[in-house]
Amino acid sequence: MSFKKTILITGGAGFIGSHVVRLFVNKYPDCQIVNLDKLTYAGNLENLTDIEKASNYIFEKGDIADTAYIQGLFKKYNFDGVIHLAAESHVDRSIVAPMEFVITNVIGTVNLLNAAKDAWKESKYEGKRFYHVSTDEVYGSLHDGSFFLEDTSYDPQSPYSASKASSDHFVRAYHNTYKLPVVLTNCSNNYGPNQFPEKLLPLFINNIQTNKALPVYGKGENIRDWLFVIDHARAIDTVYHEGKVGETYNIGGHNEWTNIDLIRLLCKQMDQKLGRAAGTSEKLITYVTDRAGHDFRYAIDATKIKNELGWVPSVTFEQGLSLTIDWYLANQVWMDKITSGAYESYYAQQYLNK
Ligand code: NAD
Ligand code: TYD
Repeated sequence: MSFKKTILITGGAGFIGSHVVRLFVNKYPDCQIVNLDKLTYAGNLENLTDIEKASNYIFEKGDIADTAYIQGLFKKYNFDGVIHLAAESHVDRSIVAPMEFVITNVIGTVNLLNAAKDAWKESKYEGKRFYHVSTDEVYGSLHDGSFFLEDTSYDPQSPYSASKASSDHFVRAYHNTYKLPVVLTNCSNNYGPNQFPEKLLPLFINNIQTNKALPVYGKGENIRDWLFVIDHARAIDTVYHEGKVGETYNIGGHNEWTNIDLIRLLCKQMDQKLGRAAGTSEKLITYVTDRAGHDFRYAIDATKIKNELGWVPSVTFEQGLSLTIDWYLANQVWMDKITSGAYESYYAQQYLNK
C-alpha cells in the first residue's frame, strides 16, 4: 500500500505519545505512522495494543541519541514530518540522574534535527515539518498572578526543564540558521490514562487503591495547571497541520489547582467510586520533605492557540478526572505490571520504604 505521507512520532510508547499515535493512526489512514521509541521504563507497548495491527502503523525500537541509527531511519522511511515527544520526563528523576536528561532531551533532539536537515535539504524542505513537543516548565516558576505567554523569557529551574529549554533553543536555532520548518508547543501538566505511576495523579490513584500513604511534597501549596491528555493530543494534531512554521503555541487548560486541593478532590472522588466512607482516603495524606528547587506555580495563557487555530479543551476537569480515575480502576492489570517492581517515585521510596 502506498501512503500519502510518512510521519515519524518519537516517544509514541509513552504517556502522551501513545495518545498522539492512536489519534494519527485512526484519523489519517492514508498516512504511515512510524513510532520510534527506546522503550525505557516509561515506554510501554501495551499502551497501543488497540492499534498495533493497523496497516498504517509501524513500531521501531531505537534510541534518538544514536546518531547512526537515526540517520539510517530517515533514509529508510523518507519522512515527511516529525512529531518529537521522546524524552526523559520526570522532574524527580532529573534531580537524581541529570545526565540521562542531557543525553536524551538535548543530544537526542539535536540528532533528530540534524537527520531532518540532512534528509530534507535536497527537497528544500518542501512539504516538510519538524514539530517539537515541549513543556511550560521552561518558563520557570511563577510567584505572582501572571501567566506564561509564548514570549515569556525562559528561566528553567530543574535539570528536566533546563534540558527541555536547551532542546527548544536548538529547535529554534535550526529554524533560524538552516530554515528548517519547525513548530513548537509548550504545554502544561497532563493527566489521563497510561501515565507512568511516578507522576502525581497515577501514583496517588494507585496508592489510594492499595491503602498506601500519599506523599505530599512540602505543604502541598504548589500550583499546577492541568490538561487532559487527549486534549493535548488534539492540540498537537491541530498545530502539526495548521500551525505556522517558526511559531510557538502555548497549550493549557486554564485549570489551576494547588496540589493539596487537587489531592483532596481526588480522595473524595476515589472514596465515592470505591464505595468507601467519605474521608477515608484523605487519611492517607502524608506531608514529606519538599522536592529540591520545587517550582511554585505554572500557569499557561492559551489565548494564541485558541484565537489563531481554534483549539480549546474538549472536556471539563471534573469529566477528565472522573474518566482518568475510571480508566485506572478498570486497568488494574496495567498498573500491577508496572508497579510489581515495587516502583514508586524516588521521593516516595525514600520516605515510605524505610
Ligand atoms: P513519558 O516519560 O511518559 O514518555 C516518554 C517516552 O519517550 C517513553 O515511551 C520512552 O520510552 C521514550 N524515550 C525516552 N528516551 C528515549 C530515547 N533516548 N530514544 C527514544 N525514545 C525514548 O513522557 P510524556 O509525559 O509522555 O511526555 C512526552 C513529551 O511531552 C516529553 O517531551 C515531555 O517533555 C512533554 N511534555 C509532557 C508533559 C506532561 O505533563 N507529561 C507536559 C508538557 C510536555
Ligand atoms: P509531577 O506529577 O511530578 O509533575 P511536575 O513536577 O512536572 O509538575 O508533580 C506534580 C506536582 O505534585 C508537583 O508540584 C510535585 C507534586 N508531587 C507531590 O507532592 N508528591 C509526589 O509524590 C509527586 C510525584 C508530585
